[in-house]
Amino acid sequence: ESGERDKLIEAHELTGKLYHYLLMNTSHGQPALEYLRSRGVTDKQIDQFLIGYAPPEWDTLVRFLDKREFKLDLMEKGGLLIAKQDGSGYIDRFRDRIMFPIRNGEGKAIALAGRILGEGQPKYLNSPETMLFNKSRSLYNFNQSRAAMRKSRRAVLFEGYMDVVKAWTAGVNNGVATMGTSLTESHAMILQRNVDEVLLCYDGDSAGQAAVVKTIPLLEKAGLRVQVAMLPKGMDPDEFIEKNGAQAFIRETIEHPVSVTKFKLIYAKKNHILLEEEGQKNYMLEAVGIIAELDSPTEREFYLKDLSREFDISLEALKQDCFQHRQQHQ
Ligand code: CTP
Ligand code: MN
Ligand code: MN
Ligand code: MN
Ligand code: MN
Repeated sequence: ESGERDKLIEAHELTGKLYHYLLMNTSHGQPALEYLRSRGVTDKQIDQFLIGYAPPEWDTLVRFLDKREFKLDLMEKGGLLIAKQDGSGYIDRFRDRIMFPIRNGEGKAIALAGRILGEGQPKYLNSPETMLFNKSRSLYNFNQSRAAMRKSRRAVLFEGYMDVVKAWTAGVNNGVATMGTSLTESHAMILQRNVDEVLLCYDGDSAGQAAVVKTIPLLEKAGLRVQVAMLPKGMDPDEFIEKNGAQAFIRETIEHPVSVTKFKLIYAKKNHILLEEEGQKNYMLEAVGIIAELDSPTEREFYLKDLSREFDISLEALKQDCFQHRQQHQ
């Protein structure tokens, strides 16, 4: 019902502002603010993304919403509150967390994500699926990045909130992230309607790199060109910026992506022990298989030549293997 949706959006807008106010203007928010500053998050970023703080009490938001005559059962349905077990009322869903408001394409607040201060589980707590929020169709920061996406015909896809926030200040104004879910076909469709190319900038840990492998075909199926930004082993964009600065991030990462084929070759290489004869042969054959998937003969030759030089194998032999591979897999 649209009346309920409007009410819930209003509640999310007010909640986002409340949390932002508590973070910036009260002593309760001080430890959270210090935590953010220790991670290099600036006041400008906090304002741009309306980052906030949900205090540890059980009923800060309950009382706030109740006083403004929001129906608490609706607020529970919208994910802001949780019903008590004994049915005697409600408690706040988010407590003692750094809060990131999540907005839809029109910029309306529809959900929240909360990060724990420091270590602990779960690291992020997101709003559940509600009448407003479908995480398989939502991209964090899409509302702020759409203009830059359309202009550059390109989007940068990150894994996390913090990556989007810090990259924004580094000048990446076309950055978005999925939220605790892998990229879906719906996400790919949203991107495809706005850009021609996606730069995948996932974490440099094994989970992030495996996610790149999974995400590439989804984007390609939606008709998008894909490039991959490589980060040092184990580092994510937020950590890279923290350690090396925004300029280095743009110069070394965003401006030097690798092709999908190159990424697949690098990724495949990690599974083989190249110091051993078997490892070398197995890698070469896997690499030929990856190259064989390319439609353009020129592109195939480009990568086969690389491989030929790297392992001192004749281009002819590699081409034959590649040809066989294509025959077997069509
Ligand atoms: N995520 C989540 N729930 C978790 C852990 C992760 O929803 N318990 C989602 C969040 O959207 C998070 C993203 O997955 O931003 C990437 O996870 P991770 O790399 O672990 O977190 P970071 O974004 O790097 O968070 P931080 O920098 O704050 O540690
Ligand atoms: Mn402010
Ligand atoms: Mn990660
Ligand atoms: Mn990360
Ligand atoms: Mn991070």
